[in-house]
Amino acid sequence: MAQKTIEAASGKLGILTPGLGAVTTTFLAGVFAARRGLGKPFGSLTQMGTIRLGKRTENRSPRIADFVPLSGLDDLVFGAWDIFPDDAYASALKAGVLHPELVEALREDLSAVRPMAGVFDPRFVKKLDGPHIKSGGTLWDKAEALREDIRGFQQQSGADRLVMIWCGSTETFLQSSPVHETLEAFEEGLRHDHPQIAPSMVYAYAALREGIPYANGAPNLSADIPALEELAKQTGAPLAGKDFKTGQTLMKTILAPGFKARLIGLSGWFSTNILGNRDGEVLDDPESFKTKEESKLGVLDWILQPHLYPELYGDLYHKVRINYYPPRGDNKEGWDNIDIFGWLGYPMQIKIDFLCRDSILAAPIVLDLALFLDLARRAGMQGIQEWLSFYFKSPIHAREVYPEHDLFIQLMKLKNTLRHLQGEEVITHLGLEYYD
Ligand SMILES: NC(=O)c1ccc[n+]([C@@H]2O[C@H](COP(=O)([O-])OP(=O)(O)OC[C@H]3O[C@@H](n4cnc5c(N)ncnc54)[C@H](O)[C@@H]3O)[C@@H](O)[C@H]2O)c1
Repeated sequence: MAQKTIEAASGKLGILTPGLGAVTTTFLAGVFAARRGLGKPFGSLTQMGTIRLGKRTENRSPRIADFVPLSGLDDLVFGAWDIFPDDAYASALKAGVLHPELVEALREDLSAVRPMAGVFDPRFVKKLDGPHIKSGGTLWDKAEALREDIRGFQQQSGADRLVMIWCGSTETFLQSSPVHETLEAFEEGLRHDHPQIAPSMVYAYAALREGIPYANGAPNLSADIPALEELAKQTGAPLAGKDFKTGQTLMKTILAPGFKARLIGLSGWFSTNILGNRDGEVLDDPESFKTKEESKLGVLDWILQPHLYPELYGDLYHKVRINYYPPRGDNKEGWDNIDIFGWLGYPMQIKIDFLCRDSILAAPIVLDLALFLDLARRAGMQGIQEWLSFYFKSPIHAREVYPEHDLFIQLMKLKNTLRHLQGEEVITHLGLEYYD
């Protein structure tokens, strides 16, 4: 199989994040800590993962970072926007994810990341209203201002290449409408401040217009609209989203494929959790929660395929609740009650009590996405990157196919994409030796 031509990952990679809250600061602190030998990047496939090549007898399993050309942690530079002016040090302390001693040890690195003024509209995040925003002008002018920020950042940081990852708050529920259908309609909408264009779409537009890969870590539509897909193809930028796969949904996509593999039936799955960070506060607004709920609910249907297994999954009652409970901060607690049934319909129950740290699970995803999206750009891959579905609760996918949610199929797809890029055989696990 021919190896694809991939430009080297030389020079610096700039990672731009709209949103400098819990996830972003935990991600930044992790990179700084790893650089200083104060912590390890656990949970990151690009830093810790290996990839098997060829037949099992060949014993070839290099580290992913040695197999495909990726930027190293020392080559990363960071830029952000937020609607609050706190630098990453102050924001990390407020987020309360990491021990204050660690944040203090990284103070110099963290305080150097100061947010640029955000593009914001309180209609889309009802629980927040920050002072650090771009005011005046149309959405088009704001997109232009973001593009200037991007170019300014690139110049001042010396970054050779850039990627953008939305780590801003979840916006209210929005359905795709005619202004999102074509690039022309969307640009017209920007010029006339169309009410259905959310701030995250303006950031996505600015990035893609500059040919910069864009990923959305939140469940709101953002770049998941035909207009921005069209733009990504036009400028050759890779695109991915939506909603980092962490917490309860990660557990669902680990467990549900197992039930289905063993044809164990499901009659109910009730998930509830308490969390007390700013994300929890934003999600306390029913309209922001609706965006999240849609993202969380879809997963089981796609994995279990009730149309193919109506007796096993046709009557599944699935409910998801998020409760804002400030005392817990970022240390969320999630409970799942799963009602399953086996042989002759005999019922059983599984209870999960997950004492989870959301941002600790999300931070390695930000790192991997940044490095893989940059790889995709250098490999000439443009538009929707389905091989990165592994990282998302609601993977963006080509309109003509259904999304793949099974974590293990997603991982196989990701690794096979890397094998394909480097001219290695894709692994199908077909055991031809039985026929010899
Ligand atoms: N932590 C997780 O495990 C996880 C998982 C999946 C998705 N997410 C999503 O990632 C996002 C970030 O999560 P978080 O825990 O860091 O939340 P957070 O509230 O701590 O941080 C979000 C930041 O975005 C800023 N912001 C909001 N609108 C903005 C705008 N238009 N421009 C610039 N900045 C803006 C807010 O001021 C805030 O500082 C949320 O949308 C969340 O739903 C998080």
